[in-house]
Amino acid sequence: MALYAIGDLHLSLTANKSMEVFGPAWENYHARIEEGLSVLTEDDTLILAGDTSWGIDLPEAEADFRFLDRFPGKKYLIKGNHDYWWTTAAKFRAFCTEKGFTTLEVLHNNCAFYGDYALCGTRGWFMEEDAHNVKVLNREVMRLETSLKAAGEKPILCFLHYPPLYQGYQCPEILAMLEKYHVERCCYGHLHGPTIRRRMEGQQGETVFSLISADYLGFTPKKICD
Ligand SMILES: [Fe+2]
Ligand SMILES: [Fe+2]
Repeated sequence: MALYAIGDLHLSLTANKSMEVFGPAWENYHARIEEGLSVLTEDDTLILAGDTSWGIDLPEAEADFRFLDRFPGKKYLIKGNHDYWWTTAAKFRAFCTEKGFTTLEVLHNNCAFYGDYALCGTRGWFMEEDAHNVKVLNREVMRLETSLKAAGEKPILCFLHYPPLYQGYQCPEILAMLEKYHVERCCYGHLHGPTIRRRMEGQQGETVFSLISADYLGFTPKKICD
C-alpha cells in the first residue's frame, strides 16, 4: 500500500493537443506515463495534481479517463488550469458510473483519507494567470481552507496545482493557510520546461514542498508514503 502523486499528465488521447511539440522532454509521453503508472497496485492511491486531460469536455476526456482507470488503485483528481473538462463532483461521478470507471474521483472542496493522513487540495492561485485578481485568489483560499478544515485532527498532506512558492514568487495567502493548518507536506505541479529550475523544494516552516509535474518526475509518480 502506497500513496503516490504526479501532476500535469496532459493526456491527449482524443484531443489534438499532444505535448510532444514541446520537445524531447515530452517525446512518447503517453507510453512513458503508461510505464510510470505500472507501479500501481490495488491498495495504492494516486493523486493527480491537475492538468490531467486536454479534453475540453467529458466526452473529449473520456479516452484519457479510461486510460487512467485501467491502472489499479484509487485516483483523486485536482483541478489544473488546463482541465477544461472539469465539472461538479456529482456530474463527474455520474459520468464515471455511466462509463464503468471505478477508480476516479475529484478532490474539490473536500478531503480524502489515506491511512492516518488527510489528503487535501485545490487548484491554488498563481499570479501568472490572475494578476491582481483578488476575487479569484480569495475563492481559491476559501476552497483550500474548506478542504483543510475537512481534515479534522488528522495530519495533512496538501496537493495544489499551482506552486504556492517558487524562486522570486510567493503567495502569502496560500502559505498562511498551510501554516495555519500545520500542513506536513505540500506537493504542486504546473511548472514545466525551463520554469522547473525555479522550483522551491524542501522544508519551509512546518511544511515540506515538492514539485510533482510529470516532465520533472520523468513521468514516474512520486511516492509520498507507504
Ligand atoms: Fe498548469
Ligand atoms: Fe501543466
